[in-house]
Amino acid sequence: MAATPSGHGFETRAIHAGQDPDPRTGAVVPPIYATSTFAQDGVGGLREGYEYSRSANPTRTALEECLASLENGVRGFAFASGMVAEDTLLRAVCAPGDHVVTPDDAYGGTSRLFEKVLRPWGLEHTPVTLADLDAVRAAVRPGRTRVIWAETPTNPLLGVADIAALAAVAHDAGALLVVDNTFASPYLQQPLTLGADVVVHSTTKYCGGHSDVVGGALVVGADDLGERIAFSHNAVGGVPGPFDSWLVLRGLRTLAVRMERHCDNAELVAHYLSRRPEVAQVLYPGLLEHPGYAVAQRQMHRFGGMVSFRLAGGEPAALAVAERCKVFLLAESLGGVESLIEHPGRMTHASVAGSPLEVPADLVRLSVGIESGDDLVADLAQALDSLPRSGV
Ligand SMILES: Cc1ncc(COP(=O)(O)O)c(C=O)c1O
Repeated sequence: MAATPSGHGFETRAIHAGQDPDPRTGAVVPPIYATSTFAQDGVGGLREGYEYSRSANPTRTALEECLASLENGVRGFAFASGMVAEDTLLRAVCAPGDHVVTPDDAYGGTSRLFEKVLRPWGLEHTPVTLADLDAVRAAVRPGRTRVIWAETPTNPLLGVADIAALAAVAHDAGALLVVDNTFASPYLQQPLTLGADVVVHSTTKYCGGHSDVVGGALVVGADDLGERIAFSHNAVGGVPGPFDSWLVLRGLRTLAVRMERHCDNAELVAHYLSRRPEVAQVLYPGLLEHPGYAVAQRQMHRFGGMVSFRLAGGEPAALAVAERCKVFLLAESLGGVESLIEHPGRMTHASVAGSPLEVPADLVRLSVGIESGDDLVADLAQALDSLPRSGV
């Protein structure tokens, strides 16, 4: 880390890691190096190693160093999307004929990648409930399982998996533990510190934080794994441009304060929803009755900004609430400053409809933003009040 030693606190590293003032001008914000190529001082005479922007670009380097620092990793890689980060990783560490243990509750696009893209390539996978460690152990195929893939908390059911316990199962089997840390963000949870080998992010979400960029990232805890990913990163080339890298880096600088406010508002909303008779169940790891509460309390700093809930009135009530909120915007994605509401069954998780991974039709997912908490509660109240009595 050029800018700040790893001994500094999270907030300091978010603002300074990889972000030394520009040596030429002193600019305190890393410049956007909008260039595809770099002049050489004689053949092979690269300035600071920069040759061509698919291989490396200084704005992207700043982001990658910051991400690695925040996740307590040795090396970070920025990608054009979370999906291409996932695909690049899996093809770098697995080969056709290998096997992966996957979550039975995960982002629909991740499940689609395993089922529709990587299975035809020859990579088999077994979806299991990751909170059930015996089921995870039973799903491992000795000698063939290369990766246990975890998402915690999960999208959209907010399930919690024990990262340290999964790392032990993975390492006993000679496999890697990969954790998609998108929902928690590096501020709330650092999987590498808990024993994971690779962290995945859709930086589109909390890392970027403003719903204005699509991006992804991988962070690794060991140099040899970093070398394998570095090769594929350049060889496949799913990299972000300098402006997108800069947007994600700008988001990281305020991640800590945003996450605190996301958590404050999510706790407020989760407790409010728990008191409403129209709501059959609130799924939030910060509620005492959540089955993953104890694990979440141990491995997360706080419980996050995502809240899902099930409506007593079934799918019609879920659709009505999603459509009648006004401050919560009806939209896919999550992790931005603005609150979003969606119906996973018909929106983000439509790609797993009709499969064993289908999500309940009465489910609504909230990405709780950083607006005034009272306004968020009032917005949900008016939407729930509008349900017919039969919806209770
Ligand atoms: C948990 C999780 N992982 C990965 C992804 C994929 O990221 P992207 O949309 O940036 O490709 C998403 C997108 O919603 C996600 O929610």
